[in-house]
Amino acid sequence: MKNVVKLLSYNTFIPFFYPALMLPIKPWRTKAIKMMDFHTGDRVIVPGVGTGHDLSAIPKDVRVDGVDISDVMLGLGKIKLKLFGMEKSVTLSKMDAEKLSFDDNTFDKAILSLFLTVVFDARKAFAEIVRVVKPGGQILIFDHLLRKSSVPNILAKPIDTVLSYSFASVTRVLDDIIEGYPVTVEKTVKGDLLGFIEGYLLVKH
Ligand SMILES: C[S@@+](CC[C@H](N)C(=O)[O-])C[C@H]1O[C@@H](n2cnc3c(N)ncnc32)[C@H](O)[C@@H]1O
Repeated sequence: MKNVVKLLSYNTFIPFFYPALMLPIKPWRTKAIKMMDFHTGDRVIVPGVGTGHDLSAIPKDVRVDGVDISDVMLGLGKIKLKLFGMEKSVTLSKMDAEKLSFDDNTFDKAILSLFLTVVFDARKAFAEIVRVVKPGGQILIFDHLLRKSSVPNILAKPIDTVLSYSFASVTRVLDDIIEGYPVTVEKTVKGDLLGFIEGYLLVKH
């Protein structure tokens, strides 16, 4: 049920106000992606790629697979690929990131921007990413996630009840999502002016 409402939101009103919402964080997003160590020919997966806000920050000599469940978000992303001549290096497909149809150890890198707070089962989606990324590969998380040590905000829970069904959850904890998976957080960077978003660079071992 939760996924149905979310799917409706991401296929109706969200895609249209989304670009305006994303514009102010563009420089922060670019800085976070720059923490990654790209090499020519790398394969990069972007789950929940949406309209492709990460794509301009990724070097053009790598091969990107972006997946999303929303036709409208993907449709707008495909227009962007045409406009900016990225069709050769980027493939956008409709796919549930909780059940990726890629083989184990396919990708050198993964970019999870504003995705783990949106996907229905964040641990399941993260497990899929860990499965398809090669050992030694880098996983960038750019999102509003709490840390175990965060002081709970009394407003967060009620806000979350409303937001999590349509847009994004605001109470998910990074440590809980990645616990037990073979990853280490190597670097962090601020993801917006207010400190609401953070960039985390993880390595799979
Ligand atoms: C907040 S948007 C982020 C889009 C993009 N990553 C960005 O940073 O601008 C979250 C995206 O995740 C997608 N999404 C949610 N659940 C998903 C799933 N199970 N599989 C693939 N995509 C999903 C939504 O359709 C939406 O496009």
